[in-house]
Amino acid sequence: MYLVRLIYCSTSVQELNINDIEQIIHIAKENNARHNVSGLLCFNRKYFLQCLEGSRTNVNKTYRSILNDPRHNNIVLLEYNEITQREFQQWSIGYVSENSITKPLCMKYSGHSEFTPYEMRGQSCLNMMLELRDSVIII
Ligand SMILES: Cc1cc2nc3c(=O)[nH]c(=O)nc-3n(C[C@H](O)[C@H](O)[C@H](O)COP(=O)(O)O)c2cc1C
Repeated sequence: MYLVRLIYCSTSVQELNINDIEQIIHIAKENNARHNVSGLLCFNRKYFLQCLEGSRTNVNKTYRSILNDPRHNNIVLLEYNEITQREFQQWSIGYVSENSITKPLCMKYSGHSEFTPYEMRGQSCLNMMLELRDSVIII
């Protein structure tokens, strides 16, 4: 059972409210916990950035469902690596809201003070998520 980490970003097709997000998280929590998938989801009302960790089979299956979800589009795979250990094992899907994605954090990991995951390297996305993991309250 090889462990892998996958990171992608995408764009919300319409303005999602908190209920829409809760719906996504509710299903994802159940599915990911059942399949031993862990990770983090960041959302700033426009862009999603998500990291998924787990067995290659289960991460690939989860990503396939996500690719077919009409609530977002322009899905770009930023990183896919075999890993030796998880970084987000506490969360089946930790959620980081827009308030935590601050301008200084974006400046640190990208060329902008805005959250622009499409213009970030996969490694920068991972580093940003690791910093969020260690510095903010994740639900
Ligand atoms: C941005 C985003 C992230 C998602 N993350 C997950 C996830 O981590 N795990 C998951 O099972 N579903 C996730 N979903 C929901 C899936 O796309 C899909 O609706 C759900 O897995 C049910 O799929 P199924 O109808 O094929 O069973 C996400 C959806 C969106 C829009």
